[in-house]
Amino acid sequence: MLINAAMPMQAARAELAAHYDLSWSEGLAKETAHIYEKLRPVMPEIEWPAHAPYIRAINELKKKKNAVILAHNYMTPEIFFGVSDIAGDSLQLAIAATKVDAPVIVQCGVHFMAETSKILNPQKTILIPDSRAGCSLASSIRADDIEAMRKLHPGAPVVSYVNTTAETKAASDYCCTSANAVDIVNAMESDVVIMTPDGYLAQNVAAKTNKKIVYWSGSCIVHERFTAPEIRAFREANPGVTVIAHPECPPEVVREADFAGSTSGMIDWVQEHKPEKVVMITECSMSDNVAASNPQTQFIRPCSLCPHMKRITLEKILWCLHTGQEEVTVPEEIIPRARLPIERMIAISNEIAARRAAAALA
Ligand code: 13P
Ligand code: SF4
Repeated sequence: MLINAAMPMQAARAELAAHYDLSWSEGLAKETAHIYEKLRPVMPEIEWPAHAPYIRAINELKKKKNAVILAHNYMTPEIFFGVSDIAGDSLQLAIAATKVDAPVIVQCGVHFMAETSKILNPQKTILIPDSRAGCSLASSIRADDIEAMRKLHPGAPVVSYVNTTAETKAASDYCCTSANAVDIVNAMESDVVIMTPDGYLAQNVAAKTNKKIVYWSGSCIVHERFTAPEIRAFREANPGVTVIAHPECPPEVVREADFAGSTSGMIDWVQEHKPEKVVMITECSMSDNVAASNPQTQFIRPCSLCPHMKRITLEKILWCLHTGQEEVTVPEEIIPRARLPIERMIAISNEIAARRAAAALA
């Protein structure tokens, strides 16, 4: 395995060790105890000495380099609690990217998320600790496919999930995330809406809207694995368990769930409802992160790892800050076209949030 294409891991490790104190000590234990306490429910104490030196080095280096770390909810607990400045779902990270002052953003997530940050901040340096962190949804569709769908459904707007490449976004009219997909579709004037690339998300949205949804049949390799009989088996084995699912799951799984929402929607639901027992039908690191912050709830944890998200490690984050690699770029001519659907999405989301807040106060 290589830390990056140019340098074998051992050489990279030697370079990091020459520049940073990566040893464990009593002093470091005291210095990082407040972070470990957040992780204690999900990380045995014996593992902490392997993480703490990297966490200290990253936190010092990001200050020196004037960088912020944006981390998706699927990052492992040592990244999520140890080094992230802002953590959230895809929508929250996209909005945060528009508000960040620092000149450097380290995106701890997958490549399309880093591209989204670049599209919204062309003047900033966007780094990703491993550019091979892809997404089965983003790689399932290209701009040509969108044009072919437009020909089949003339006049229908194209709403593309944010889990797409910059090129696919540029060919779309609107973006959506799992947090706002129903709202964005309902905001369309047309009765027919094209949704890409997640066929399951599209079907789950179709169940909540009067619009006719035509969709591309991409899927997420993590969420497509879950089945309705599996959910029923969780309920049988764990009486009283609450089931919450991500809308990238097949519709029959979402129908079996007590609640479905974006990664942050799921986190908020647990914090608000404080269920006695819960199973989160999504990526497993997220259950760890939520379990760490909600000791009152017992988590049943089926494990479905996203291999792309798991490419991001503390060691690679340190390497990325140390070397300034790998920088994420988007062709200049694509940026304005890809930004439009994202900005339209953020505008609709903000407008709806303001309307709901006003209605709640009335
Ligand atoms: P969220 O927008 O809900 O964070 O989902 C992103 C993702 O990739 C889930 O698989
Ligand atoms: Fe893509 Fe699925 Fe991984 Fe999310 S969990 S990044 S949708 S492959």
